[in-house]
This record gives sequence, C-alpha cells and structure tokens, in this order.
Amino acid sequence: MAEILIENVTKRFGDFVAINDVSLTVEDQEFVVLLGPSGCGKTTLLRAIAGLGMADEGRVSIGGRDVTYLPPRERQISMVFQSYAIFPHMKVYDNIAFGLKMNKLDKKEIERRVGRAAELLHIEEMLDRYPNKMSGGQRQRVAVARAIAMESQVLLMDEPLSNLDALLRLEMRAELKKLLREIGATTIYVTHDQIEALSMGDRIAVMKDGLIQQFDHPNTVYDLPANWFVGSFIGNPPMNFMAGQVQRHNGLVQVSIGDFHLTPEAAMQGELARLDGQRIILGIRAENMETMAEPTADSLPVEVLVVEPLGSQNLLTVEIGRDTVKVATHPTFTVSPGQTVYLRFPADKIRWVDPESERVLYGVG
Ligand SMILES: Nc1ncnc2c1ncn2[C@@H]1O[C@H](COP(=O)(O)OP(=O)(O)O)[C@@H](O)[C@H]1O
Ligand SMILES: [Mg+2]
Repeated sequence: MAEILIENVTKRFGDFVAINDVSLTVEDQEFVVLLGPSGCGKTTLLRAIAGLGMADEGRVSIGGRDVTYLPPRERQISMVFQSYAIFPHMKVYDNIAFGLKMNKLDKKEIERRVGRAAELLHIEEMLDRYPNKMSGGQRQRVAVARAIAMESQVLLMDEPLSNLDALLRLEMRAELKKLLREIGATTIYVTHDQIEALSMGDRIAVMKDGLIQQFDHPNTVYDLPANWFVGSFIGNPPMNFMAGQVQRHNGLVQVSIGDFHLTPEAAMQGELARLDGQRIILGIRAENMETMAEPTADSLPVEVLVVEPLGSQNLLTVEIGRDTVKVATHPTFTVSPGQTVYLRFPADKIRWVDPESERVLYGVG
C-alpha cells in the first residue's frame, strides 16, 4: 500500500510563496497528474514529495510512513525529472540496470526488467550504445526506462515525455499508462499539457500560483470546472466565456446577452437570483452549442467569421457582443464566413461564473 498524503505543504523562495498550503491525497495505485502553466509550482511540489527540496511547512506521508524529514533515498520512490541525470559513460543497459544492481537483484530479474522497460520505450536496439551519442528524446526515454525498471510502489515523473516528438508522445502516453497500471505503482505525473493530463490521469490536480484550483476526475474538470481558470486552461478549444446580465421577470431569473434572453435551469434559479441586476459570465464549451441554419424562437443569430474544417468537426469562430466564441459543428454542416447561423444554448450545458470571485456557481439538485 502506498498512499501519498500531502498535508498543508508550503514552500517559499525568499518572500515568494511557490507552494501555498497545499493538501492532496493520492490513493494507493492511483495515477494523479499535476497540471498547470509554467511557473505554477508543479516541480516544486514534486520535489517536496521526493525530498529534494524540503518543504517549509506541512507534512508528507508515503504508505502510512511520515517521510517529511527523510532524504529521498529513504522514501522508497523512483523519479524522472525534467533535468534527467543519466550517466553518459555508461551503456544504456547499465544505465537502466543501475538501481537494480544497487539493490542486488539477481541477473535474470535485472535482464527481465531492463528488457521490458526498454521495449516499452522503444530503445531495445540501443542497449549497447552510450547516451552521449543519442538525441535528447532518446536520453529522456532511457531516464524513464530506468525509473520504471525499479518497479517502485511510488513513481514521481516531471514532464517525462516533453522531449519526444508529437507522434511518439501520443503512443507513449497510452503505453506508459498501461504499464503503470500493470506495475500497480502510485504515480504523480507532472505536465503542462492538458491533453496529456486528460488522457492519462485517474485524477487531475489543476494548479495555478502555487494553489490547487481543482482536484477531480478528467471528465469532471472538463465538464464542471471549479472556476474560470480551469475552464480556460482545459480543453482545446478552451471553454467559451461571454458577458451577460442577470434580470428577474415575474420571479423568473433570466440572463440577457444583448437583447437575447436565456432561462437558466431550475437548479440555478436560486443561486442566480442573488445576482439580480448584476453582471454574470456565461461559460459553454464549443461542442455544447447547437448550430442551426434557420432561426428559432430560442436561438441567437451570429455572423460566422472563420470556418476551420478539422475532419471530425467544423470549428466556427463567431462574435457574441465583444466576446470571441468557438462553436463546433458536425462536419456536414457547411457554412462560409460572412453567413449568419443560429445558436441554441442548452440550459444544462451552461456554466455560470461569478465575475467577482471567478468561481463557477453550482446550484442545488
Ligand atoms: N530554486 C528556486 N529559487 C527561486 N525561485 C524558484 C526556485 N525554484 C522555483 N522557483 C520559482 O517558483 C515558481 C514555481 O516554479 P516551478 O515549481 O519550477 O514551476 P513549474 O514546474 O510549475 O513550471 C516559479 O516562479 C519559479 O521561478
Ligand atoms: Mg516544472
């Protein structure tokens, strides 16, 4: 059992707070992704878990053992860091086998593990070569193979696929996920790539400014973001946001975008009534609007500015008020720039953002 418990960890560099009172529980054998823009504190948090940069405050436990004051080698973890250190004067085989030899595993077991890790990372042809004659992407794969071969209960990985080309990354993320499940390692995986996070994580901790903004399953952070930042960081295209105004008519809350009126779903009525007369931000994903060629009573006419045929969908750019909005349509929906189309906003697909707190409001029920 190797649950990872992070409790109220704070890390400062001088006056700068890089990690701000972060708590996080990673279940045994879970694959958790730390996702966020460059500089948000992902590496700093991972280093605190690994024991490479002692936290200023808080505690870290691994498998029920308090490791807060233990050095990295006593934490029973494997790591792959962005600045991976492999030995240039040692053959790839010996690099991968290094930790296994230190742990005095028998020769057959070392061969089996090196073989399996090398196969996964497509470096089985390179076992006799020296890393200093290899590309950055190849060396990175050696570092990942070495960590995986340890078959530790806890694996910490910091952007381990960042030096690979796009195609190999795509292939490796699926294979890595499969292998880690087989090994049964508890994994914390750092990336700034939201697609990688969505595709690999059992759960995703979305970070910004040293704080965890949301920690949940990929579908939840995508569909039910906790705040404006999460909605705009996750998804390609990101969630659309547009300005509206809350108005009550005969007890019913409506939101107007210009002279177009929407009726929020019943569960949101109470929450939005408090904002009567105030600004509200409406969030909706590109694929959740319905696009029609003909007007209906409940649709908003918009002019199409750009059409991007993407194969599985056509992506339209339109303007609503002063907001630029991306709309995904079926690939058979043909339209040209300059034409008008009509958008419908299904009430259950709209997310309501409080412009003050930037939090997404969720109703009851
Ligand atoms: N050793 C250090 N000294 C001073 N500032 C640091 C140090 N390491 C990281 N930082 C700062 O802490 C913040 C978080 O860094 P980091 O954890 O590397 O971010 P990420 O991995 O999310 O890109 C950044 O603003 C970075 O400049
Ligand atoms: Mg980093």
